[in-house]
Amino acid sequence: MSFARVEIAPSILASDFAKLGDDVRAVEQGGADVIHVDVMDGHFVPNISIGVPVVASLHKATRLPLDVHLMIERPEEYIERFAKAGSSRILIHQEATVHLDRALSMIRESGAQAGVAINPATPVATLTDVLDKVDTVLVMSVNPGFGGQKFIPGAIEKIRQLNQWRARYNGAFRIEVDGGVDAENTAQLAQAGANTFVAGTSIFHTPDPAAAVRQLRKLAVESLSQRV
Ligand code: DX5
Ligand code: ZN
Repeated sequence: MSFARVEIAPSILASDFAKLGDDVRAVEQGGADVIHVDVMDGHFVPNISIGVPVVASLHKATRLPLDVHLMIERPEEYIERFAKAGSSRILIHQEATVHLDRALSMIRESGAQAGVAINPATPVATLTDVLDKVDTVLVMSVNPGFGGQKFIPGAIEKIRQLNQWRARYNGAFRIEVDGGVDAENTAQLAQAGANTFVAGTSIFHTPDPAAAVRQLRKLAVESLSQRV
């Protein structure tokens, strides 16, 4: 399996929740590949966002896969419910459970693809024993909890490291980057090995979200075609 393909994943955290359906349709028209859904519990991160009912509504409103990023404590207790609501991919934080291996297996058993996320202060080396159990590794490039934060450049080296390790695992996981992703850093992130680009502010806080999706894709694809 190869993950050379670029995926643009608009984060609806930056959308206007009162017109969520319209915002999703706009990014669909721009060619978005997945919809990134940020779930926050007010414990793992200092913010509260949305939960299972919104995932269920989005599942009815779009054919795009839902990439559900759980920023919650004890994620294992909620996997089944998020899977049943229509999550195609469920991403949990390495820092949020002491039973990461079991929780990742639970995600795959639920029928969803399994992803593991790491905060900016968490080394990629903490993931070596689960890399054969994940479909996605999500490198956070901001401290999770809020949209609109500044990109933390240390994420780039982590992506490079994961990209090297990926060769040992037959390329069987995607590398996703989330936080402060925009037209300034997308090319460099693609060069480092990122496949899935989560972007909230740089897509929804623009006059034309569909055009913003197209622009990010162009930057990533062109940067890859120039790779020597
Ligand atoms: C942060 C979330 C991100 C966030 C990204 O906790 O996980 O998905 O929505 O938003 P921007 O692109 O604005 O940094
Ligand atoms: Zn996210």
